[in-house]
Amino acid sequence: MIKNSATEYGSMAKTLHWLMAAIILTLIFVGIYMAGLPKDTAEEKQYAFQFYDLHKAFGVVALLLIVLRLIWLRVSPAPKLPAAFAPKERIMVKALQGLLYLLMIIMPVSGYLMSNAGGHPISFFGLFEMPVVVGESEALGEFVHEVHEYGGWVILLIIVLHMAGAIKHRLKDKGGESDILKRML
Ligand code: HEM
Repeated sequence: MIKNSATEYGSMAKTLHWLMAAIILTLIFVGIYMAGLPKDTAEEKQYAFQFYDLHKAFGVVALLLIVLRLIWLRVSPAPKLPAAFAPKERIMVKALQGLLYLLMIIMPVSGYLMSNAGGHPISFFGLFEMPVVVGESEALGEFVHEVHEYGGWVILLIIVLHMAGAIKHRLKDKGGESDILKRML
């Protein structure tokens, strides 16, 4: 079934979840790698900017997917947490999910604005250029650069906690009511 039921995730939510997980984790590691590359000579710049182009194009894909995911969440709400979850655990799960959604918006938006503010084009896999939404601005560029840089570490930390929660429930209660990883697989 494509839609979520009261207790299970449907195929659309699962596809969006795992596709975005793969894209976001790759973006984080490629982002950290490329930002640290030397860019002094023409060759070094050419090497680094290949990664920049790919990072930006996949970042735009991540932005489109999060919009689709938020729309889909309204069309087909997520299944409720099982009754076995204690009130404190419910708050933790919801807080982590909320922060993840927030950062899944903040990261691509700050990256997009950073490129615009720096006057750098965003090519969608060489097919066409994405529209410019803000003009060049050093102050904005610096601000969104900081947001993107710190945001990258925060989203990584939250993904690790999110995974740790899923693994903990799998180990504690494999196949049982609180093993919520099974309904996302
Ligand atoms: C979910 C989406 C995204 C994630 C998780 C992500 C993550 C990251 C991370 C972790 C870094 C390294 C930060 C640093 O150490 O300076 C980075 C750098 C960068 N990202 Fe993204 N990014 C995303 C989307 C985008 C988008 C949509 C664009 C532009 C269209 C973009 C443009 C850039 C640029 C230009 C840099 C290099 C900054 C520098 O040279 O210091 N990112 N990204």
